[in-house]
Amino acid sequence: MSELYSITEKIISNGKGILAADESTGTMTKRLDAVNVPSTPENRLLFRETLFSSESMNDCIGGVILYDETIKQIASNKKTIPELISSSGAVPGIKVDTGAKVLANSKNEKITEGLDGLRDRLKIYYKLGARFTKWRGVYIISNKYPSKLAVHSNAHALARYAALVQESGMVPIVEPEVLMDGDHNSEDCFKKTSEVLKKCYEELILNKVDLKGTILKPNMILPGVDCKEKIECKKVAELTLKCLEESVPSEVPGVAFLSGGQTEKEAVENLNEINILNKSSFIITYSYGRALQQSALKFWSKNIKNVSGTQNTFNHRAKMCSLAARGKWTEEIENKH
Ligand code: 13P
Repeated sequence: MSELYSITEKIISNGKGILAADESTGTMTKRLDAVNVPSTPENRLLFRETLFSSESMNDCIGGVILYDETIKQIASNKKTIPELISSSGAVPGIKVDTGAKVLANSKNEKITEGLDGLRDRLKIYYKLGARFTKWRGVYIISNKYPSKLAVHSNAHALARYAALVQESGMVPIVEPEVLMDGDHNSEDCFKKTSEVLKKCYEELILNKVDLKGTILKPNMILPGVDCKEKIECKKVAELTLKCLEESVPSEVPGVAFLSGGQTEKEAVENLNEINILNKSSFIITYSYGRALQQSALKFWSKNIKNVSGTQNTFNHRAKMCSLAARGKWTEEIENKH
């Protein structure tokens, strides 16, 4: 188990966080379509390799979550992608769920699949160099959602996943994402997220998962995208910290937020404020997909040959996130780029 604790520490300590580059081919195709780049395996690799070779990988990125296609690809310097990531001191990780499917008997909700054959797939990923994994459960909010069925089923799957991952010598990232879609307010988000997190930990404990060798990847507490409530980052931080303190056992060493549709700046401002106010024992950092890659993808799509320009754009975002993970981000530094 001590091996798991040191992997966890390496990923989230010292202002480092996680680059979530594990978009499935379908999602990556949507992202590339949006910037008019053909979604070929070569282009998907080219963009990702450009990020993984950036300078900020050394100081700001403690772990990279990969997709099945990417973990098996070879970089232009002939290294495998996990070797390229490890060479900067970051830990290679892998998304191991096989996606969220319609939940039987609650067809507006989803259950994440991928437990069948997982033990064998984990052995393969370990051999390929992965030392941590991700599984994402998704929940919608409305008056009647998430249903008890969705809360229970996804928590059960997350816990069985986490137990298998620890058995295979890797650190599980437990990601229950309560989505921002809808017109619910921040209090609703607080209540529903608390319920989801409490159930997850009930199941993780039942499955004897060693919480000290896990990382939680939750949503922040925010109003839905269609809600009229205007929220200050101080209130986001207060509600988010209250939710974590009440619902997450203190043995959990770290919390790495998803960005979930926030802009790059919102994701940084909110994380910064959370760290300024954090009095808990949790290390609080980022595991961002869109909020780390959006500007870099936009730049790259127009300047595919300009590697250093793409990397500069990514380095700036990674540095802003890393400052926010220490509560040291300012608007002035943000605008210096
Ligand atoms: P976003 O930061 O874009 O929400 O992605 C994080 C992630 O890995 C979702 O599973």
